Amino acid sequence: MEKAIIITGGTGMVGNSLTNYLIEKGYSVHILSRNTKKKEVNSRIKYFKWDTDQQTYDDNVFSNAVAIVNLAGAGIADKRWTKNRKQEIVESRVAAGNLVTKMLLNETHQIKTLIQASAIGWYAPNASLNQYQEDLAPNNDFLGTACNAWENSVNQINESSNIRKVILRFGIVLNKNGGYVKAQILPLKLKVAPLFGNGNQLVSWIHQQDINRMIAYCINQNEVSGIYNAVSTEVVSQKNMIKKLATVLNYKLWLSMPIPSFFLKIVLGEMSIELLKSSNISNKKILDAGFEFSYPDLVSINKL
Ligand SMILES: NC(=O)c1ccc[n+]([C@@H]2O[C@H](COP(=O)([O-])OP(=O)(O)OC[C@H]3O[C@@H](n4cnc5c(N)ncnc54)[C@H](OP(=O)(O)O)[C@@H]3O)[C@@H](O)[C@H]2O)c1
Repeated sequence: MEKAIIITGGTGMVGNSLTNYLIEKGYSVHILSRNTKKKEVNSRIKYFKWDTDQQTYDDNVFSNAVAIVNLAGAGIADKRWTKNRKQEIVESRVAAGNLVTKMLLNETHQIKTLIQASAIGWYAPNASLNQYQEDLAPNNDFLGTACNAWENSVNQINESSNIRKVILRFGIVLNKNGGYVKAQILPLKLKVAPLFGNGNQLVSWIHQQDINRMIAYCINQNEVSGIYNAVSTEVVSQKNMIKKLATVLNYKLWLSMPIPSFFLKIVLGEMSIELLKSSNISNKKILDAGFEFSYPDLVSINKL
């Protein structure tokens, strides 16, 4: 029987692609989901129920499982950041981390590795040439605080639990089925490149395929442990990123349309900060750990 990888939030944009990648690599995938009524299209993908509010789970999920990837949490950009939504974004992640911890500490299982998602929202804005490294303290804003609580939710998994823990701080994930890319498809279809503010802010990003490859790499490399930024090497302006997305997705652009910051603030509220802020984040640590990107720069992106 093949080894299984457990993915929480495996039904989401990242998890879905990761699932297909791991299946191709010969694993089975066990998806922990709040809703298990999903159709099983592949005999190597199984759904198991968990309830992060009640802190309960189906312990059959551990059968043949060697690693767990914790991606679950209420979507950061799905809704306006009201007080309630912000609470949901944080609490859903902390509850998922707490339940993963409970599972790993309580059960008899064969799990050797925990891959815990986090985000570069951890860091303060950075438009300087000095790239931010993993050892910086979290930014004192909503996302910085949220990422800190999220990472801390799996604090009890450490050397003494005999489980190797890898925290990956994802940059903006390029995947045409959701998130950042999908949100810009409508203007691109209208042949318009939306520029957030002046479009010069720096974007630290990662191709979905490299996320999949990096997670598999971290599962298989015993010396990889601790916190890593999951971002590609070339940090680019938002202006250049949107032009690249248009080219790769085959949309001809007629014009660029700057969307003033004040307008974004009115429409999106506090979330607009994330579109306007510069992120210059280093990937030196994961490169030093031996990981090689398939898509290190914009030029290398030929498909999404
Ligand atoms: N996409 C990006 O650019 C990006 C960048 C940085 C970090 N991240 C982080 O990486 C993770 C995966 O990203 P993604 O884009 O795949 O996210 P996604 O599409 O929103 O999927 C997240 C999954 O989490 C589960 N979930 C949603 N709300 C929940 C709640 N209230 N309580 C518990 N579980 C809940 C859902 O699974 P079920 O419905 O099956 O339970 C959902 O499929 C997320 O935590 C995200 O914040 C993403």
